[in-house]
Amino acid sequence: MQQEQTKKGGFTSGIGFVLAAAGSAVGLGNLWAFPFKTAENGGAAFVFLYVACVLFIGAITMICEMFIGKRAQANPVTAFKGISKKIGWVGLLAIAVPTIICIYYSVLGGYTVRFTANSFAGNANNFAAFAGSGWPVILFTALFLAFALVVVMAGVKGGIEKASKVLMPALFVLLVAVVIFVLCLGEGVSDGLKFFLVPDFSKVTFGSVLAAMGQAFYSLSLGMGTMIVYGSYTGKEINMLKSTAMICIFDTVVALLAGLAIFPSVFHFAAKAGIPPDNLKLEGMMLMFETLPKVFESIGFIGNIIEFLFFAMVVIAAVTSVISIMEVSSQFIIQKYGISRKKATACIAAILFVLSIPVGYSIGFKLNGTGKMTVFGLDWLSFLDTVTNTVLMPVCALLACVAVGWIMGPKRALAEMEEHGVRFHRFGKVVAFMLRFVVPVLIAVIEVFGVIDLVFPMGSFNLNGLGIVLVAYGILGILIGAYFLFYHKTETGTNADELLKP
Ligand code: PFF
Repeated sequence: MQQEQTKKGGFTSGIGFVLAAAGSAVGLGNLWAFPFKTAENGGAAFVFLYVACVLFIGAITMICEMFIGKRAQANPVTAFKGISKKIGWVGLLAIAVPTIICIYYSVLGGYTVRFTANSFAGNANNFAAFAGSGWPVILFTALFLAFALVVVMAGVKGGIEKASKVLMPALFVLLVAVVIFVLCLGEGVSDGLKFFLVPDFSKVTFGSVLAAMGQAFYSLSLGMGTMIVYGSYTGKEINMLKSTAMICIFDTVVALLAGLAIFPSVFHFAAKAGIPPDNLKLEGMMLMFETLPKVFESIGFIGNIIEFLFFAMVVIAAVTSVISIMEVSSQFIIQKYGISRKKATACIAAILFVLSIPVGYSIGFKLNGTGKMTVFGLDWLSFLDTVTNTVLMPVCALLACVAVGWIMGPKRALAEMEEHGVRFHRFGKVVAFMLRFVVPVLIAVIEVFGVIDLVFPMGSFNLNGLGIVLVAYGILGILIGAYFLFYHKTETGTNADELLKP
């Protein structure tokens, strides 16, 4: 009965679910982190490592998270409580991580909106000035959050599913169009492809393996509650195995295409302008907002069109990720506190917006070199990113695997998964083994080495790094405390609660 009612408000089709989950996965992580990490860690050799991580660690964790949500048909807190009342706090962690990420992600989203809007007026050489401009940054952040808000307000079926069905194919078409154009540029293209893809095993280190695992988790939106929440809106008819395969393939293909669009165009520009590519900023935020606009704008009017299409594609990628992030906290507020979806989402967006303002300022100060507004030596974006990505996210993903593999136990987990349409056939034992012994150990390795690298970068002690680690574990402690104080003994709601309301 509950399943029936829940489905009325949940995803109506397998493809709708896959596109929404792929929308969550495909984001800035694919477009600016993956290409650069690949180039830096040995090209195709890194791609190979990355695909192995997606296949053997990412996909299993994803199935686990979706299953946790699907079996509960409820928010992450109720879902983890359903496995054991003692670990309901993992659900709070799964809500807190994406919410913290959203604070900085929406500022970056705001940048992408402004860069799209400005494609024909020229973005080159304006990045630091724009980032440090104060209210325009706030305005574009608000605009970006408003896009996501409108979709989340309309609900899972009427908003998230519908929007994803239009936006994700659009993203793909835009990206392919940009790649085709770039590959036809001629001069420099083959050098760009070489830089991106030629395998160089000498560059593959233990650090590369860690980078590949971390990237796979971030890119697939694991350890962030979103797959639990989206999974909770699926009914029996949705095939989780097939969906996971499709999401992982889509996410990886987009990341590869992003590299095919970015490096050949950068190398083309470098060849034409006679600058060594090493002199161009090829990493992260600077690659996207400083180097690429220069590259596109050097091509003339057609370059402006390509720039517009490219940034429109980045906006779509970022907005569909933030939609999934917003849904995580909205779902919990709606279900636990019985607040209407419209009110809940509007409140969350307002809070996120206010919190994003200092982050916007802090990035501006960093880019302008004033160095004001830092926490433990980092700008606010890097600080929030490190707290979540390096420390909290692996904890969350690890506990999801432990909850299924150890607390539920392999027999019960496999039997229940089968009930929910996940059949591993002959591979059940292998999957159970991976889930219990391999995946948690590897995630624990990411956590431990991530923390060690923060506290002892290059082998020497760093007080700021220790501060960051303590803040992150402090947040975890507060969440555990809050759970046992407020949520342990009370009802925390299910998806049906939203539907049952008059
Ligand atoms: N997976 C997204 C990316 O690769 O950019 C980022 C993301 C999505 C982060 C969802 C957090 C989240 F909850």
